[in-house]
Amino acid sequence: MQKTKTCTKTDLSHMPYSPPETQHLDNILPSEPLLLMGAGPVPISHAVSRANGVVINHLGETMDAVISNVKTMGRYAFQTASEKIIGVSGPASAAMEMAITNLLWPGRSILALSMGTFSGRMAEMAEGVGADVTVIKSAGIQPVRIEEVLEAFSKKHFDVITMAQGETSCGVEMKCLPEVARIAKEHGALVIVDAVCTLTTMPLQMDEWGIDVAIAGGQKGLSSIPGVSLIAFSEDAWKSIESRKVRQPHWCLDALRAQTFWGHQQYHYTAPVPGILALHEALRQICEETLPVRFERHRVSSIALQAGIETMGLKLFVQIKDRLNSVVAIRTPEDTDSSQIRKIMSKRFNVEVSGAFGLDILRIGQMGEQCRSHNLFKVLYALGMSCRQHGVDLDVSLGMAELERNLVIDPENILD
Ligand SMILES: Cc1ncc(COP(=O)(O)O)c(C=O)c1O
Repeated sequence: MQKTKTCTKTDLSHMPYSPPETQHLDNILPSEPLLLMGAGPVPISHAVSRANGVVINHLGETMDAVISNVKTMGRYAFQTASEKIIGVSGPASAAMEMAITNLLWPGRSILALSMGTFSGRMAEMAEGVGADVTVIKSAGIQPVRIEEVLEAFSKKHFDVITMAQGETSCGVEMKCLPEVARIAKEHGALVIVDAVCTLTTMPLQMDEWGIDVAIAGGQKGLSSIPGVSLIAFSEDAWKSIESRKVRQPHWCLDALRAQTFWGHQQYHYTAPVPGILALHEALRQICEETLPVRFERHRVSSIALQAGIETMGLKLFVQIKDRLNSVVAIRTPEDTDSSQIRKIMSKRFNVEVSGAFGLDILRIGQMGEQCRSHNLFKVLYALGMSCRQHGVDLDVSLGMAELERNLVIDPENILD
């Protein structure tokens, strides 16, 4: 007769580690939500917030419809006819990494145009995959110049060129992007553009400008949540990825694998469903607003804010010809501490703005929901009064009046 095997029961009375003391989230979060007026994440609309609270199956008909819409609406946002629109589970840096690791490998070369932290990041990633990396650093707080790009191409062939449309770390816009993209294409390079803070806040024409890869983060220009990003590949970029003979080091970020889900509705990994639903809603609102109206809302909002800041008596960091409207950089007033000013803004006025990476500046975001008149008045007042409390002599009322004067010239009041 066969002996039945007895299962030994685990002794649950003794656990080597006891549970930690817990804290309810309500006791950590501020009782009043802070108004996010920094360089991102940005406030989200009610529709985006509601979608972010829903979980459905990541495979099946309902999700297929969602993905199909995200791709169609994404094509409009990127201004491309490309079918290769892929959502990335991760921050915008993960989407940047998808671009770099799929298009570069040992033996391939990249020209990286660096104006600061983020545009420089793609060069770091390219070093990581063993590509031959050349970096042009801009001379100061300005974009890399066209002549420098031409000179680099005259000396060497590059497979890829990278740049950011808006360098949020210092508030510089690469206004010559279309021209640089054209030069790069003429020299046979694939053009990768970080449009993380700029997409849908200002014009970007992926197909017309010859951009091969455009990258957007959720939490900035698109006014969705952090953690789900969007990337678009041109047919040229896709052919290059398909021609790859060297093994792709990443599994999750392998664009061909990701296309099984984004192109063929099949399992790659469990997609971040709530984040994709949130992105769906953010894109829907962008499409309903339409790009021209949205660009104008951002432009008017940022210009009015800049006028208010300067009239109040503060100084903007970037000269107007290179200034990025999506993230406005302000010089920290002399003999003051920007972290103290930010602390007062947050504690007294419930408004958050950003500091910077090594630069003595404050940064105010002008992306998506940040560009609403009620948010502009609140952030400018908080900034002015906090500086005053910190001993800076400013005329806050004059600045507020200038903000208002610049906003009311718009007869349709598009900022509400
Ligand atoms: C222009 C730009 N590119 C890339 C990134 C990286 O985004 P993430 O922090 O989501 O990885 C940022 C973030 O601030 C950014 O501003």
